[in-house]
Amino acid sequence: MAAEADLILVIDAGTTSNRAMVFAADGALRATAQRALTQHYPQPGWVEHDASEIWQGVLACARHAVAQVGGAARIAALGIANQRETVVAWDRRSGEPLARALVWQDRRTETICADLRGGGHEAAVQAKTGLVLDPYFSASKMRWLIDNVPEVRAAAEAETLALGTVDAWLLYKLTGGAHRTDAGNASRTALLPLDGASWDAGLCDLFGVPQRALPQVCDSAGPFGTVLPELLGAAIPITGVAGDQQAATIGQGCLVPGATKATYGTGAFVLANMGAAVPASRHRLLATVLCQLGGKRTYALEGSVFVAGSLVQWLRDSLGLIDAAGETEVLARSVPDNGGVVIVPALSGLGAPHWRAQARGAITGLTFATSRAHLARAALEAMAMQTRDLAEAFAADGARWTHLRIDGGMSANDWMAQDIADVLGIPVERPGFVETTALGAAMLAASGAGLFANLEAAAAAMAGQRSGFMPAMAQEARDRRIAAWEKALCAASG
Ligand code: G3P
Repeated sequence: MAAEADLILVIDAGTTSNRAMVFAADGALRATAQRALTQHYPQPGWVEHDASEIWQGVLACARHAVAQVGGAARIAALGIANQRETVVAWDRRSGEPLARALVWQDRRTETICADLRGGGHEAAVQAKTGLVLDPYFSASKMRWLIDNVPEVRAAAEAETLALGTVDAWLLYKLTGGAHRTDAGNASRTALLPLDGASWDAGLCDLFGVPQRALPQVCDSAGPFGTVLPELLGAAIPITGVAGDQQAATIGQGCLVPGATKATYGTGAFVLANMGAAVPASRHRLLATVLCQLGGKRTYALEGSVFVAGSLVQWLRDSLGLIDAAGETEVLARSVPDNGGVVIVPALSGLGAPHWRAQARGAITGLTFATSRAHLARAALEAMAMQTRDLAEAFAADGARWTHLRIDGGMSANDWMAQDIADVLGIPVERPGFVETTALGAAMLAASGAGLFANLEAAAAAMAGQRSGFMPAMAQEARDRRIAAWEKALCAASG
């Protein structure tokens, strides 16, 4: 007798690696596969990915994960979570990329953004999209590709150009031609009004992006298309799509207004569920779509910090200070304090709430007594400090955190989790399974496929246990850390 299709396959296309995981309907992880993704840095401030490598990596991981559970007949639904904002340009006829993907970290479009800011457009763009005029978002990257890559321009003129974020690219390849995105991913482009069903003609004109090249904006859970059977061995329905930070918010069960999570991956991203009313930040946070279900949107306030785990990676790969990320915890515990060292990880400018594209990383307080351990500790401390800057902005926007749910690969570091609780002065909770991005995509796909009545039911069935970290730092020590951080922040901002 054929086995029942009761498992959910998730593709998590992240910034530094592509992964596939298979979940059971109770949230148990059944299979996992991972492939690193090559980072291309052709010039300072430029970051590119090869879209074909993303696709091939995703496909290989999905095949590997499906094989681990005995084949695609067991898979009821597929969910996609993706690095957000990164732009892929491809040709609709050939299905081939026309340029390297411009990654969310890429700062090359700062002049385009500065011109628009100079032209007095920021207030209107922010009011409509919830975003600031910064190279981070997709629209200026789309414009740059059209202006600077002859193949992209030619395809735009021939009306064969397809533009999209990584979810749309993968959906196109998986289905053999569907061009769709979810409203959450669409809200990161700067072309979607927070309260508008689809792309805004005025914003497309402002950024010089042809609307016909963009994907259809859809619910985050529901029918997106089916996987070409020759790819994975069955026509699996794709029923959930979300940007990775939106997915992690759902995976953390932040489904009611006020619930807040922080994911420490390549960058650090804090999202607070704001419910059904369109939020507006007056303190340089972003307003964004958390998800769209049955045509109804739930919104979030977001603080995006560009450098988190990538700082530890830099200590390992560029400085050779450590051999493995996990060593930072041992090193941090080996010294009583940071020895006066502060690291501001503005390696690709500063994101929220500062938004200083020109800021550069700084290490202050070095003396001959500074050791490797002090540097590692300062690197971990920077995570709590960046989170604290966001906490202040959220509080000023009327969304004060009472506790914080953390996740992402870096959150497995107990020392860092305790330091975040200490610096914020609030309890921090961490799920036993920290890959909440993939879990959130599985919840969306499971509810989109009808395995559960709704997203709340999927989240209740699939969420795991949490552990807690209570704040234990004296106010005086906290104040000292904050004062030293603010001084170093000025040095980084130049
Ligand atoms: O906005 C960028 C974000 O989606 C990247 O996430 O997990 O690849 O650091 P991650």
